[in-house]
Amino acid sequence: MRRTLCAIALAGSLTLGHAAISQDEVAYLFNKECASCHGKDGKARTPVGRKLGAKDLKESKVSDAEIEKQILEGKKAKDGGYTMPAFKEKLDPDEIKALIAFIKKFRQ
Ligand code: HEC
Repeated sequence: MRRTLCAIALAGSLTLGHAAISQDEVAYLFNKECASCHGKDGKARTPVGRKLGAKDLKESKVSDAEIEKQILEGKKAKDGGYTMPAFKEKLDPDEIKALIAFIKKFRQ
């Protein structure tokens, strides 16, 4: 019984991992995980965003690799807490890739 459950869980995560992420899904992810600080429009004009000093993603000039690092590892505050949380436990590589492309569109 245990083994069957395990196989189902594994098969599920494999299918998810390889499925292309649609624009709707990535918009949903951004609104769910990022918009509380960065705002739905990316401008970070939210109460939490202002308080933590979140970046306006329209003004952002960092490279894909830097965005990826920021999403994976977050950003530590001087007091040891996080200004931006790390998402490496929460998002899979495909989701992060889709989010990088999504937030770069704010720059246009
Ligand atoms: C709890 C608030 C919070 C959440 C949630 C959050 N961020 Fe951030 N983000 C910040 C803060 C604060 C900074 C600025 C940190 C710094 O560089 O000092 C930042 C910076 C960034 C930067 C760097 C921009 C630049 O030009 O340096 C990127 C990219 C980014 N966030 C993307 C995301 C994405 C994508 C998500 C969702 C997966 C997300 N953030 C979720 C608070 C947040």
